[in-house]
Amino acid sequence: MVVLGSITCTAPVNIATIKYWGKRDENLILPLNSSLSGTLHQDDLKTTTSIVANDEFTEDALWLNGVKEDISAVRYQNVLKAIRDRATKLQDKPHHVHIVSVNNFPTAAGLASSASGYCCLVYTLAQLYGVEGDVSSIARLGSGSACRSMFGGFVKWEMGTKEDGSDSIAVQVQPESHWPEMNIIVLVVNDKKKETSSTAGMQQSAQTSPMMKERCATTVPQRMKDIEEAIKSRDFEVFGDITMKDSNDFHEVCATTTPPIYYLNDTSRYIINLVEKYNTVSGNIKCAYTFDAGPNACIYLPEQNVTEFLALVLKHFPTGDQTNYYRGPNKYLQQSQSYQEPKVLHSVFNPDSAVSDRLKYILHTKIGPGPQILPESDSLIDLSTGLPK
Ligand code: DP6
Repeated sequence: MVVLGSITCTAPVNIATIKYWGKRDENLILPLNSSLSGTLHQDDLKTTTSIVANDEFTEDALWLNGVKEDISAVRYQNVLKAIRDRATKLQDKPHHVHIVSVNNFPTAAGLASSASGYCCLVYTLAQLYGVEGDVSSIARLGSGSACRSMFGGFVKWEMGTKEDGSDSIAVQVQPESHWPEMNIIVLVVNDKKKETSSTAGMQQSAQTSPMMKERCATTVPQRMKDIEEAIKSRDFEVFGDITMKDSNDFHEVCATTTPPIYYLNDTSRYIINLVEKYNTVSGNIKCAYTFDAGPNACIYLPEQNVTEFLALVLKHFPTGDQTNYYRGPNKYLQQSQSYQEPKVLHSVFNPDSAVSDRLKYILHTKIGPGPQILPESDSLIDLSTGLPK
């Protein structure tokens, strides 16, 4: 058995502040609008992928979180073909690949694992096959939002205009070092399995929501300009305002789809009201919510507001006896537990009625870097068998 290549990489999750919703080409995954996201730190959320190329493997194979997947699915095949078409290595050697991929966060967290998953797959394949230049357009073929995980910091996905999709790529707007005060707190909401996938939901919205036309033609292009400028000047007031507006519009688009799609639940709406009230009484935007195709809240907020916000969340959604309820640096938990809110925030901190529902957990992270290459010793594949370790 001759190992022709072996490589292991990691890739991050991203959370959009301007949402991608709707495609103009289903196969090439070309979007109806540009979008923008923050890349979350891989210390807390990441996919790790190992790939081995070998001349004795009888087929390409993929294991995801310990389960063998059907690699003949069209999106996997599109990605593999696009990589092999641009290969500068291995192309003259008959071989197959074994791919092993794991997430360091539970799928039950309801966080988009397809973005980090496809990004990691493509980034790792690109190393193995020596693909040069932009590969975000290949990650896009796996899942649209995956292209934005190719970079750290703040990243935009330019929708592009070409029919072949060659200009529909991810571009870094600012690196992770640009706004180090930016924190993200994910409030993982208790929920059953999600009903409508993003892929199906956005297709229905594109066909039926009367809001889509204006959103794509004017609203999003303006917001893209404004939020890029806000990130550049580290203006949280504008950043937060646009982020919440775009999340609300996205869920309004879903609600005006036929048949309507509802991703938020009562707890999500409770969090929206809480954040709105907190910001209003504070007299400025202290934190900003955004929701993807599910009920979990992602809260963007500057470092200086973390302790107060966490204290607020713990007041409304108390820990109970659950261990590991807050997953983040311990110092914030300690500070927030002894935090005395200013008088003006009394009404916001003290709920009129007790919340019966608790969160599943609270995940605290920061903006982080893009994909990384790991040393050979971190491989998830046993080289003597070619199977997951
Ligand atoms: C609501 O990238 O999962 O998270 O391209 O069909 O795989 P496909 O969809 P996907 O959609 C993500 C939608 C979103 C918004 C966003 O991340 O921009």
